[in-house]
Amino acid sequence: MGKIDEKLDIIGRAFTPSTPINETDFFHGRKNQLEQIVNSINLEGQHAILYGERGVGKTSLANIMTFKITNIYPIKITCNRQDDFKSIWIRVFDSIPVSHKTNGIGFKPPEKKSVLNLGNIIKQFSEVKPSDIESLIKKLPRYNYLFIFDEFDNTKRKVKDSFADLIKSLSDNLSYVTLVFVGIADNVEELIGSHQSIERCLKQIKMPVMSNSECAMIIDSGFRKVGITIDPIVREKIIEFASGYAHYVHLLCYFGAKELIENKRNYFNQVYLSIAINKGIENVNEQIRSSYQKAITDSKSNAKWLSVLNACAHAKTDQFNCFKISDVSYEYNRNKITPIRSNYITYNINQLCKKERGEILKKIGTGVNTRFRFINPLMRAFVKLKMHTV
Ligand SMILES: Nc1ncnc2c1ncn2[C@@H]1O[C@H](COP(=O)(O)OP(=O)(O)OP(=O)(O)O)[C@@H](O)[C@H]1O
Ligand SMILES: [Mg+2]
Repeated sequence: MGKIDEKLDIIGRAFTPSTPINETDFFHGRKNQLEQIVNSINLEGQHAILYGERGVGKTSLANIMTFKITNIYPIKITCNRQDDFKSIWIRVFDSIPVSHKTNGIGFKPPEKKSVLNLGNIIKQFSEVKPSDIESLIKKLPRYNYLFIFDEFDNTKRKVKDSFADLIKSLSDNLSYVTLVFVGIADNVEELIGSHQSIERCLKQIKMPVMSNSECAMIIDSGFRKVGITIDPIVREKIIEFASGYAHYVHLLCYFGAKELIENKRNYFNQVYLSIAINKGIENVNEQIRSSYQKAITDSKSNAKWLSVLNACAHAKTDQFNCFKISDVSYEYNRNKITPIRSNYITYNINQLCKKERGEILKKIGTGVNTRFRFINPLMRAFVKLKMHTV
């Protein structure tokens, strides 16, 4: 492999805007969350729930748990909308081959070793109850098991209820098993439902967006591997654009680095940042691009929608990423000589909640408590980036 190809290969692994991290070498930060998971594993009868917004890095952390935590047997399953309690557990048990000793036939039969697949046993059940799962787990070789269920937000109410019952009985009876539920949610109830009986045995771990220093680690460690130096102002800008969403750090670093390597350069300056922004935007996921397009396209002029959307993206937010009309008005009027009345803003923001305007925003609460937020949190950074394209 030539030197250029080698470097391109490295940046392709270090900067992964569209895939979760799956190698410890490219995983940064998240010490606190990982520690909390380890504590849950060590505490008998405790399980954990890892929840947060879309795209904050939940799956990456779930992947890393399976490598980094020692003395456990980890199994990670991704749940989908079609899943029921049974299909999820079939996948879990299918991935644990259990060797099984039986006696052969004859007077002095030799011992026979065969592989027992517990998944096949469940397949024969017409309905699987939490107590069945408990009995099957007891048949497994004695080990500390870590079962991780990613995208648990996809599961139906009935599945969540069965898991709640299972958590309760595992906590009481099988202390060497830890379940970790991972998914998009604002709070624990949203992910698993409200079950007072399991509150005590569920450690709640909220996954925040990445801190600036964690984003900086992604940049520095990736560039170090290919000998690229970055202008400190450009580095700050990337961190600011990303607003804690590593997706954008990966996106801008990948396209900037690719351009540098192909041009045999090694200093990431403002010129390369502009190229990275333009290329990066073309490669942002389709759903974001198309809903943005719907939001701003107008037969008369796109300008009005662009201004409103930009004001939303820059508006001050609360801890739930929500903003008020007055915050948007403030941003909208910041550089205007004649300020626009908030009625106008209210009307347009309400339009942005509609399907025909890309359903970019969601309205939360009523009256004086009315708040809005971007349905896809990655949209905020996309709107900001779009302002910087030519
Ligand atoms: N600790 C980390 N270090 C470096 N990059 C990370 C880290 N965590 C996440 N990323 C990057 O951030 C992006 C989103 O990560 P990931 O897919 O894990 O998020 P998620 O919360 O599971 O998203 P979703 O809600 O869509 O399932 C990916 O590009 C991933 O490579
Ligand atoms: Mg995920």
